[in-house]
Amino acid sequence: MKALEKKIRGKSALITIIGLGYVGLPLAGLLAKSGYRVLGADIKEEIVQEINRGRSPINEPGLNRLLKEVRRAKRLRATTETEKAAEKGDVIFVVVQTPIDKDRRPDLQAFRAAWRTVAKTRPRGKLLIGESTVPPGAMRSIVVRMLAEEGLEAGRDYLLAYSPERAIPTRALAEMQANERIVGGVNERSAEMAAALYSQICRSRIWKTDLETAEIVKLVENTYRDVNIAFSNEIALLCEKLGVDVSTALELANRHPRVNILKPGPGVGGHCIPKDPHLLLDSARKAGLELKLISAAREVNESMPEHVVELIKRGLKEIDKTPEEARISIMGIAYKGNTDDARNSPAELIVKSLMSRSSNLISHDPYVTQDFGARFTRDIEEAVKGADCLVFLADHDVYRDLDPRMMKEKLGKPCVVVDTRRIFNPRLFEEERIRYIGLGR
Ligand SMILES: NC(=O)c1ccc[n+]([C@@H]2O[C@H](COP(=O)([O-])OP(=O)(O)OC[C@H]3O[C@@H](n4cnc5c(N)ncnc54)[C@H](O)[C@@H]3O)[C@@H](O)[C@H]2O)c1
Repeated sequence: MKALEKKIRGKSALITIIGLGYVGLPLAGLLAKSGYRVLGADIKEEIVQEINRGRSPINEPGLNRLLKEVRRAKRLRATTETEKAAEKGDVIFVVVQTPIDKDRRPDLQAFRAAWRTVAKTRPRGKLLIGESTVPPGAMRSIVVRMLAEEGLEAGRDYLLAYSPERAIPTRALAEMQANERIVGGVNERSAEMAAALYSQICRSRIWKTDLETAEIVKLVENTYRDVNIAFSNEIALLCEKLGVDVSTALELANRHPRVNILKPGPGVGGHCIPKDPHLLLDSARKAGLELKLISAAREVNESMPEHVVELIKRGLKEIDKTPEEARISIMGIAYKGNTDDARNSPAELIVKSLMSRSSNLISHDPYVTQDFGARFTRDIEEAVKGADCLVFLADHDVYRDLDPRMMKEKLGKPCVVVDTRRIFNPRLFEEERIRYIGLGR
């Protein structure tokens, strides 16, 4: 292990990263920029080709430039040959997706497959790091066991650490360097070596702990956010009934020094927050414990898309239209502003629910290529033109810049705007006699 330490500290270690998605690719770019040679592996041919052309397959600010730079310096290469990449690496990261299945149970197929590939290469003397979000205990019960089947003992024959990723898409590069990091090791030496490596890209404090604590910390963080958003959504539903504006109410409540309530919205999307609480719920269930609060929070957040459909129907009724006859434009397919990530986006349920009623539905997004079945355009004017109902689902900056006066000329008359992110000042629409419905108002 001394030789490995020397290589890590001297930056001569070859780093293999398995899974070049929203987390793996920025990580690969940053490690390459810091001076390591990085070999990225992904089963998707098109991703690998794009990266080797020095282009980012995802919309992540700064990533294109970074990839160009590290490709030019010959410090990053991508391949579809995962096993060969694992054989070569001194340090191997696994950063593959860990979704939930249709019954909301953890789907660890990709995670198992990636680690099986690593185990088959018998990584003696190497440092292995998991970054995929997993149910508590998975690193030990899956990874340590797989390697034991190959005759290797964790901590003795190889080092093993788990370090959850906290960076958010659209700010991944900045946050991977600025956020404090948790590193859990199968033993102290593993945590120390992984921390030594992360310290090359992370400018903030690195906390060392054990595998299981690091696993649960990640799930606690995202579940906390899910519960916070559910609370906010419930208050929004109440405010609608009471005729109070939730935006003002929460802004003022957050002036309290010990209150920090997140924003309500059309539902919670992305790869992480909608599924991470289910990883906790599943492991609690297996341990014979029912997590009532977390389960209720999920229910509230999962009910929000249907509530948005109700707001749309209400708005259309007010202008004497039905969903069947109205031209409805969905603005924003991504799960949040300025990203091309549409995984678990509330837009999917909303579009599908409206499609069963309306034949004149169009969706717009400047970044996303998915349409969830509705007619899709990237042309904002086409989306706005003649619309009876404009529904804003993602808070992309291009929407914030829309001027209600200009929109009025293009919109159908009468028309209704449903603002589920509260990005607009209602008064500006009301002055133009455009019916405005804000979530939580
Ligand atoms: N997206 C986020 O913002 C975020 C933040 C924190 C943590 N996480 C966690 O990080 C993990 C990765 O998330 P992501 O968003 O980067 O996922 P992603 O789907 O964008 O990327 C995963 C990549 O792994 C590849 N892959 C799957 N199996 C493979 C295999 N056997 N060999 C090689 N490549 C393989 C896929 O083709 C894909 O490109 C997940 O566990 C997620 O929960 C994600």
